[in-house]
Amino acid sequence: MVMVETDKNQSYLQIDDAHVNPVLSRSARIVAERAQGSFIWDMNGDAYLDFATGIAVNNIGHCHPKVVAAVQKQAAELMHTSVTTHHKRYIELAQKLAELSPGRLDSVFLANSGAEAVEGALKLARYITGRPGIINFKGSFHGRTLLTTALTTSKLYYREKYEPLPSSIFTVPYPYLYRSNFRDNPEALVDECLKQFDVLFNQFIHPEQVAAILVEPVQGEGGYIVPPLSFLRRLRELADKKNILLIIDEVQSGFGRTGKMFACEHSGIEPDIMLMAKGIAGGMPLSAFISRRELTSKWPAGRHGSTFGGNPVSCAAALATIEVLQSEKLPERAAKLGKEILERLRKSTAGNKHVGEVRGLGLMIAVEFNEKDGEPSHDIAEKVASKCFENKLIVLTCGTHGHVIRLIPPLNMSDAEMNQGLEILEKAIESATK
Ligand SMILES: Cc1ncc(COP(=O)(O)O)c(C=O)c1O
Repeated sequence: MVMVETDKNQSYLQIDDAHVNPVLSRSARIVAERAQGSFIWDMNGDAYLDFATGIAVNNIGHCHPKVVAAVQKQAAELMHTSVTTHHKRYIELAQKLAELSPGRLDSVFLANSGAEAVEGALKLARYITGRPGIINFKGSFHGRTLLTTALTTSKLYYREKYEPLPSSIFTVPYPYLYRSNFRDNPEALVDECLKQFDVLFNQFIHPEQVAAILVEPVQGEGGYIVPPLSFLRRLRELADKKNILLIIDEVQSGFGRTGKMFACEHSGIEPDIMLMAKGIAGGMPLSAFISRRELTSKWPAGRHGSTFGGNPVSCAAALATIEVLQSEKLPERAAKLGKEILERLRKSTAGNKHVGEVRGLGLMIAVEFNEKDGEPSHDIAEKVASKCFENKLIVLTCGTHGHVIRLIPPLNMSDAEMNQGLEILEKAIESATK
């Protein structure tokens, strides 16, 4: 008798195909059953090395035992009160985030997702300034709600057919060195980008009508674009000069990912409002925006709120996650491993005409692919991702043309896991660019 091996993924995927809204795209067609550290196991028991970390969420690896313990304990003690009472985990987390955040940021609001943090921060900015305008950047990604869709310009695919989108949003260029005419002169590129603010203020909106500038310190979905360090400093100066609030979106870059707790620390600037989500709670849904008491005290109680935001279980997970990040010095590890990976990939792809650039900050790393004529290559990036998947490494693409492979591994992966992932990636690049 021939034994037929059943594919347990397949039987679930059929139900998924029938009942899950097809708008939800998943990049790896496997059904995850469990995960630990740097690996995800599917329903067949196959292990996949995860260099995507649920889009920069599992910074301390999957199901970290300290987070699991904190979640279990909290779930048994207090799961939900919403705004009917104060609760101690919210208070402890607010204090902790104030301690971690740059400068005078000390007043925290907790929500559930990155997009909600963006929305809340912009409500705060508009309310306290009394101004409508928001300035964002080309290539940005800030979420999927209607306002954050309007603020997202990383791909038309995310915006088209959702019009009319909220207005009073003005988009200026982000310093994307590799696709600019200033590759050898980053400061000239920053100058060029900032000149567009003059155009904006002269022809589109008076600066006194602008509430906030919203910026990612490293552009995520747009292609893992690391701007020159002076960029955020210059934005800070400009915002101060024009009396506009500077909002830094650390949703993807925060919690040790870039080698510092928050990416804006590399530039030494203090935002007026900072947004956090993703890596904050080790895999539990939570987001936050933090500002200065001096500003938030102008926002009356009840003007904003959330039923689930700051849920005790998510807060307990965040406190445990932060404790792990700090005690295991994971931002420092991200900085070290990031340098090693950049060096290795630059060496191993040197001379490959299809590899345009290898760049990154900490463990936010991009490999950008080109066609022969230098145009962005979506096809090659897709091929690389699918070759990696065949060899059980999960990676995601990003970039305005989906032409970039982004590496977002756990900050606490072992050296052996890092080597395993890079070997698979290097072979995939070789085979996809033959
Ligand atoms: C920079 C940035 N902001 C906001 C968001 C939206 O976060 P969420 O998907 O949790 O709403 C994302 C998500 O990828 C992001 O990368």
